Amino acid sequence: MSFTCKHLSIATGEHMLVNIDFHIAHSMALVGQSGSGKSLTLKALLGMAPQRLHVHLDYEAPFALERGKSVGFVPQNPFTALSPLTRIRAQFFHPEPELFCAMVKLDPVLLDRYPPELSGGQLQRVAIAMALSHRPKLLLMDEPTTALDAATREQVLEMIKQLQEELGLLILFVTHDMHSAALVCQEIAILNAGEIVERGEMASLVAAPSHPYTKALLAAGFATRGFRQ
Ligand SMILES: Nc1ncnc2c1ncn2[C@@H]1O[C@H](COP(=O)(O)OP(=O)(O)OP(=O)(O)O)[C@@H](O)[C@H]1O
Ligand SMILES: [Mg+2]
Repeated sequence: MSFTCKHLSIATGEHMLVNIDFHIAHSMALVGQSGSGKSLTLKALLGMAPQRLHVHLDYEAPFALERGKSVGFVPQNPFTALSPLTRIRAQFFHPEPELFCAMVKLDPVLLDRYPPELSGGQLQRVAIAMALSHRPKLLLMDEPTTALDAATREQVLEMIKQLQEELGLLILFVTHDMHSAALVCQEIAILNAGEIVERGEMASLVAAPSHPYTKALLAAGFATRGFRQ
């Protein structure tokens, strides 16, 4: 199973905001700085781009893109995506949320708590479990670990990688952080001002980046933490 975006363009009346194509064989990181078009790309794939924008999407996949069914979504900040006044269990669409707690290594006891009673890392696991409860084929993740502290982030990233391998999900992982991207994904596309300037296998691109923008991102992302896969 793979997903090919043959062409995606998102434009206002005057400007082209995103104009890309890509292929996801396993897990692809879409990396770019703030304003490069990462979230707009995900919104367009979910069919949720702002109505006044012009979206053109042409894709090839063994499933139809349907949000909440074949396509799951994990937001950047799970706390804003959950109602604070409703127990977590009641916010699942699935009758047996326990099934998905095991997948994300979340204690099922937490299902009967309210979101403000959980830590950021626990909430992010809840958000991922909720996305998995729709049994998606393609999981879109928008900076899923940016709000977490460094140690928790590494645990959640490792878990996402394992989920991809165990469930055979396709993952599109949006981030501005090359380090996170390299921990989770086998493939990478570098987005700059709405265009993909470089793409390839993660390991080879990290070892030998050719575009100056990729080199700058790598220098920023690995300067202090180093690369490990
Ligand atoms: N509804 C909209 N109408 C017009 N322009 C928009 C709209 N939404 C976003 N844009 C523009 O599209 C570009 C990409 O925005 P997007 O939210 O996709 O960035 P991003 O890569 O997700 O950035 P960040 O890392 O800050 O989340 C930006 O220049 C933004 O101003
Ligand atoms: Mg964004």
